[in-house]
Amino acid sequence: MRRVLGLLVVVFVAIVCAGRDLYEVLGISRDASSPEIKKAFRKLSLKLHPDKNPGDDEAAKKFAEVASAYEVLSDTEKRKKYDMYGEDGLKEGGGGGHDPFDIFSQFFGGGRQQRQQEPSRGNDVVVPLRVSLADLYNGKNIPVSMRRKVVCQHCHGKGAAHADDIQTCHECGGHGVKIETRRVGPGFIQQFQTTCNKCGGKGKIITSTCPVCGGHKTNFGDVEFDVDVEKGMQDGQEVEFEHYADEFADRSAGHVRFRITTTPHELFSRDGDDLWMDMNISLKEALVGFKKNFVHMDGRIVEVNRNEITEPSQVITLKDEGMPKYQYASEKGKNYFTSRLLILCIGQLNIKINVQFPDTLSAEQKQGFRELFAM
Ligand SMILES: *[C@@H]1O[C@H](CO)[C@@H](O)[C@H](O)[C@H]1NC(C)=O
Ligand SMILES: [Zn+2]
Ligand SMILES: [Zn+2]
Repeated sequence: MRRVLGLLVVVFVAIVCAGRDLYEVLGISRDASSPEIKKAFRKLSLKLHPDKNPGDDEAAKKFAEVASAYEVLSDTEKRKKYDMYGEDGLKEGGGGGHDPFDIFSQFFGGGRQQRQQEPSRGNDVVVPLRVSLADLYNGKNIPVSMRRKVVCQHCHGKGAAHADDIQTCHECGGHGVKIETRRVGPGFIQQFQTTCNKCGGKGKIITSTCPVCGGHKTNFGDVEFDVDVEKGMQDGQEVEFEHYADEFADRSAGHVRFRITTTPHELFSRDGDDLWMDMNISLKEALVGFKKNFVHMDGRIVEVNRNEITEPSQVITLKDEGMPKYQYASEKGKNYFTSRLLILCIGQLNIKINVQFPDTLSAEQKQGFRELFAM
């Protein structure tokens, strides 16, 4: 007994000494979902990218650590191995040691990682998710509750009250089919296969019915989603939860995909990463300039200042007031320079000017304008 205990302690110490915890590196819990892993990687890698931290060796080291942690935890197989055996479990397969910049550009390059083909998975479910333009501007977590089929906990999807109530069908010997022979004319015999009618082709006979699911193998249950609508997501974009659709006793559940449907905003409309809005000004303001405010979608009051003449239908552009770009939105909310690049993380706002002409002019006003423009 003592020996065994000693061995256990040694194993435990070995795991602890194997070094940094990959979950800690990404700042996530051990049961983090795959969207949570992606989100953590996106945030950290953008923050630690050497372009953003020129000359900072500490940040560069962390950047590499974050990339290799993501490489493991984003891969279901590698993550499983890591969970069971720690980093030692990953060494045998070779792998690892990829260039962190490759991982980074693969992630942000938009190239969809190819998914392994699953032979039999239930149907995916697409759920429309109504989201306001302001939510896409600010980002928002939206809780959604959904009813779905879950494998019966009582019979574990067998449908029988007890495990020994499932018996092999004697009629077909468990094959689900029977071979029958028929005489067709003198000296000729034809063989053909029929589905066993005793077991309905299943090969098994269930002599009792699970009292919880009534033999259906599944029950209805509610599942709660926390849909992370991220800054700059596009209309029609989908947030996926793998294997969260209806469960089945004999194959894996399909995915649930929340598809974003944007509800219109009263002031702004969207064109890709750009925003458009209309602004009314008077004829006088068109000629002598103006100072006007509007409330942006994050609640800020933005000032529009002009001293020049503004023509009817002219478009005024504000560089940093459009939509945040998906996955590039920075905390500052502004475009910025790194050592090498201009990082465009927000689109522009186009303000279309509508000059409101007066309906009528008095005789004196007319005279005044004549004199004014005679100069
Ligand atoms: C501009 O004026 C028109 C006509 O008065 C009005 O219908 C419209 O709502 C105004 N637009 C804005 C953005 O204030
Ligand atoms: Zn049978
Ligand atoms: Zn059951």
